[in-house]
Formats: sequence, structure tokens, C-alpha cells
Amino acid sequence: MHILVLNGPNLNMLGIREPEHYGTQTLADLTAMIEAEAARLGITVECRQSNHEGELVDWIQGAYGKADGILINPAAYTHTSVALLDAVKAVSLPTVEVHISDPDTRDEFRKISYIRQACIATVKGKGFPGYIEGMQILVRHIAAKRR
Ligand code: DQA
Repeated sequence: MHILVLNGPNLNMLGIREPEHYGTQTLADLTAMIEAEAARLGITVECRQSNHEGELVDWIQGAYGKADGILINPAAYTHTSVALLDAVKAVSLPTVEVHISDPDTRDEFRKISYIRQACIATVKGKGFPGYIEGMQILVRHIAAKRR
């Protein structure tokens, strides 16, 4: 089983960026945590981060026929991007939306998530462990479909 893990804009600044929302650990720490969990689950993951919407769209399209599922924190593009929603719909791969903070309890404009309607689940407000929960949801979903 192979999962593509995508992080959107400004998540390369984890550790520096608004620690009151995102904590003090870095993107490298997050990637290490995800890779360790993947090894424990006996699956493979590819973790990527981009500040560019089109690059994220390209990676989602590239997952077609290669990955079994997608775990994505679209960051600010959550609240703006029909293109990411359409990309997930296009490849029709099981996708879980994850957020470190809980955007629904912050600014009004963060309450909209375009991608959510194409996702099998959303994990939010649980910090880095939310990615682990999201991976577990995906793995269970994919395994159940194979049965
Ligand atoms: C975020 C929440 C978004 O509102 C914000 O734009 C981010 C990070 C989160 O992980 O909590 O960049 O997706």
C-alpha cells in the first residue's frame, strides 16, 4: 500500500511559523514521524510540500495509478482552491484532509474547505498526531475496500 502525503503553502515554515497554532516542531520532524508510522503499518509513503497550487495539482494527478490514497494538508489552499478539489475528484483516490490547528475555530474565512467534499475524513486540531490518525483512517479504508 502506498500513500502520497502532501503539505501545502507555508508548512515548510513549521517550527518558525505561529508556534501558538502550529507548535515548535519542524516539517522534517513531521516527515520523520509519518515515515516511522508508515514503517510500523507496513506501507510506503512519499511526503512532499509545495507553496504552489499548480504543483500540488500536478502531484495529485501524478498519484493516479501509483498511490492508493492521499493524505493532504492543503494549508491556505483549503479555503480557496477549487483546483485542488477538482484534482482529487479527477483521480478519485481516497483522500483524507488534515490540519494541525482547528481552522473551524479560527477566522471566519478558514471555516470554508473546498476539498472537504471530496475527502473520506477530516482530522483537525490534533497537532502532528493528526497526520498519524489520518494515515490510519486511510489504511483502514483502503484495506476494507480490498476485502
Ligand atoms: C492549516 C490551517 C489553515 O487555515 C492555514 O492556512 C494553514 C495551516 C493547519 O494545518 O492548521 O496554513 O491547514
